[in-house]
Amino acid sequence: MPWKQGDSPGFGLFSVRGLFWVRAAAGEAAGRGIRPVSPEQGVSRKQADLPRFGLFSVLRLFWACGSGRPAGLPARGGVASRLGSVMTKAGDSVSASTKGTAKNADEVILGPTGRPYQGFPTPPALDSHGPARIIALCNQKGGVGKTTTTINLAASLAGYGRRVLAIDFDPQGALSAGLGIQTHDMLTIYDLLLDTKRDPRDAIVPTRVEGLDLIPANIDLSAAEVHLVNEVARETILARVLRKVAADYDVVLVDCQPSLGLLTVNALTAAHGVLIPLECEFFALRGVALLIETIDKVRDRLNPAIELDGVLATMYDPRTLHSREVLERVVEAFGDDVLETVIGRTVKFPDASVSGMPITEFAPEHAAAQAYMRLARELVARGAVA
Ligand SMILES: Nc1ncnc2c1ncn2[C@@H]1O[C@H](COP(=O)(O)OP(=O)(O)OP(=O)(O)O)[C@@H](O)[C@H]1O
Ligand SMILES: [Mg+2]
Repeated sequence: MPWKQGDSPGFGLFSVRGLFWVRAAAGEAAGRGIRPVSPEQGVSRKQADLPRFGLFSVLRLFWACGSGRPAGLPARGGVASRLGSVMTKAGDSVSASTKGTAKNADEVILGPTGRPYQGFPTPPALDSHGPARIIALCNQKGGVGKTTTTINLAASLAGYGRRVLAIDFDPQGALSAGLGIQTHDMLTIYDLLLDTKRDPRDAIVPTRVEGLDLIPANIDLSAAEVHLVNEVARETILARVLRKVAADYDVVLVDCQPSLGLLTVNALTAAHGVLIPLECEFFALRGVALLIETIDKVRDRLNPAIELDGVLATMYDPRTLHSREVLERVVEAFGDDVLETVIGRTVKFPDASVSGMPITEFAPEHAAAQAYMRLARELVARGAVA
């Protein structure tokens, strides 16, 4: 990166210094691309040096020429200010600095997040189970992979011998359907929220995956916010429900609905950690500042212990420059909070959902199934799961 802050050329397109900036920007844009690879495979530094020249690069050139201001300056400050910076610069490209140096180039294998690729060890077997760590999968943006991640992460953790309870906390009931559970005439999470004296075990159903249980939901849950609004300590109702079953499980995954309403606040209040799935597309970071703000408020007022367990990039398509640039933006905003495991875009997920199975059962050898197994290993390695 040849530029430093304050090095602004201060000239337009036709000045000598302006042309220098054009050349420099073109040189960097041509040299910073990442070769499309499977997110499971990673990419070597040598491979990464293939030329790429996309729309964002052109916009960057335009910016460098027009304003005389070099793009891609490192963002500073906390997540909120980094997010602000990232969102306002959403159209320009990103420095190659996160990809490491060219020294020992042939030896460095980079994952899609630009960090050295690692496989994460198989989690050791547990001698005993519980108490569970509760993780809320949360993003108020719809269709980003919350439910898909809950299903497949839960199945993967169960595959590693963890006892997992999945909570469908969305009136759409997609988690229940995705695990092949019909929810008509069943006790659901709604019944437990309305009557906290009821034993939650009455609502727990086993799934086809050994070690994975579910508390289902259906459209009844859409009435919960209205019914709970006058309750005393209405934000802590889910926490009180889950406390009764925490000892039976190693991890509880709560699949939130796409909103920041009372149900989501309940999930965040009950949770030890929050996992944010983020789709690798242009508007991915919009609204995340609000989500982080909500998590901060919950930490201040209701649940001081809540942690950000990670940001999970989903629906990543390494063949598109767009996907790669969005992922670079996400890494720039969240740094090491971005999980190294990245979930690629594949039609296998809709196929698996139709069959009511996790992809780890539907197509266990598929790269997407392997990615969720790796995610489970990564979360154990990070200490987010026992
Ligand atoms: N990695 C992926 N590649 C391709 N399709 C995917 C992927 N992950 C999820 N999908 C599909 O995208 C759609 C939305 O996914 P999902 O339901 O998991 O998102 P969500 O965040 O839970 O949505 P909502 O906010 O509506 O609850 C589904 O049809 C799902 O099969
Ligand atoms: Mg969902």
